Amino acid sequence: MNDILPGDVEVWQHVESTARDVFGRFGYAEVRTPTVEDTGLFVRSVGETTDIVGKEMYTFEDKGGRSLSLRPEGTAPAARAYIEHSISNQEPLTRWFYMGPMFRYERMKTGRYRQFHQIGAEGYGSKEPAQDVEMMDMVVQLLQKLGLTDVSLNINSLGDDACRPAYQERLVEHLRGHASELCADCQVRLVKNPLRVLDCKVERCQQIASAAPNILESLCEPCRAHFGEVQRKLDALGIKYVVNPRIMRGLDYYTRTTFEFIAAHPALGTASTVGGGGRYDKLVKSLGGPDVPAVGFGLGLDRLCLLLKESGQKYGQPADLFIAVADEGSADVAFTLASRLRREGLRVEFDTRGGSLKSQMKRADKVGATFALVLGEAERQSGQAQLKRMAGGEPLSVQLENLAQTVREALAKPAAAS
Ligand code: HAM
Repeated sequence: MNDILPGDVEVWQHVESTARDVFGRFGYAEVRTPTVEDTGLFVRSVGETTDIVGKEMYTFEDKGGRSLSLRPEGTAPAARAYIEHSISNQEPLTRWFYMGPMFRYERMKTGRYRQFHQIGAEGYGSKEPAQDVEMMDMVVQLLQKLGLTDVSLNINSLGDDACRPAYQERLVEHLRGHASELCADCQVRLVKNPLRVLDCKVERCQQIASAAPNILESLCEPCRAHFGEVQRKLDALGIKYVVNPRIMRGLDYYTRTTFEFIAAHPALGTASTVGGGGRYDKLVKSLGGPDVPAVGFGLGLDRLCLLLKESGQKYGQPADLFIAVADEGSADVAFTLASRLRREGLRVEFDTRGGSLKSQMKRADKVGATFALVLGEAERQSGQAQLKRMAGGEPLSVQLENLAQTVREALAKPAAAS
């Protein structure tokens, strides 16, 4: 679990505000759900035999004897809220997004944490391929806007109730041939939930999984047509993708389309999946809600921020103006001036400790202020001061009375022009 300190937090805010902007363009509204939920919600949705539920949840009993869990993901809580508030009675198509901390007791690695953060979106009410592609388009546009272009979209289809049982049979046949080589968990999965063997992290299980039959060869006609249309629509939008039958996703609720965004960047090491999602047409009903199809995704905010930090770009807004005090008698006037300018909309730094002019100017430099202004006896008397651009250049003579306006105008001009 990480502290996110000033210096880094600006990168986080940049990703969050860019996501709000992009998702807003697609008509998605933010939803906020609690960090804890009834444990049963995740058992019934993500699945009992998944690593997430079986090994990684922070589960505890509250004082009322209820079993609660810190949410390991956002899809199940959103679906619970969707059902609880009868949203389907209010609108036929719902588009939600969320951001926030999730918790999984995972082994620490670069880009893999126990408290991590997701930006996710869920769309309820449309079974059409256009809805799947809208989701992927939204991620593509977000990544582009963030300047993260070295990310590849991998897509797959997991079929539905009509065709997945036949695939499962073929898979079990393959896995049975290696049953004794599978890890203890996978021996259980082989009986209870054979698909989950395919995303086991144990190396030998992965080798066996890599030789498993291809799920795309088992799709029924409607699933094949749906997946074909997803690809046609991605092509029409000019979105590049790879069809990858190994995108199984590790959570039980998916039907048909699944997808992952995989970054080709060494900063993430093996934790290179920056996001994943898919369609889950049966989940809402299975949780006691209406029969509403849905599709969504979750992006790893920590991982996106790691990638952006690598790019070395600076985010955040420095102070517009640093007000330095030349003599003790001017401190009160400078303090009041700083307060007034802030009320007028400027970002103003003032060293409340006082100190020498030299040390104040050092601080102006350290905080990266764009302009500095020294206030002393002479400036107080004349009502005029010198506005100095910290990056260099001729100082500007300014009237203290309309300082906010002058600074705003100077900020709008490029450095050399002022
Ligand atoms: P997920 O693939 O389990 O899907 O997680 C989505 C993303 O969260 C991952 O691709 C990864 O970037 C990030 N992530 C997961 N675990 C960690 C971790 N321990 N540390 C850092 N980042 C992590 C879901 O959670 C689904 N709810 C996505 C979804 C939404 N499907 C449909 N709707």
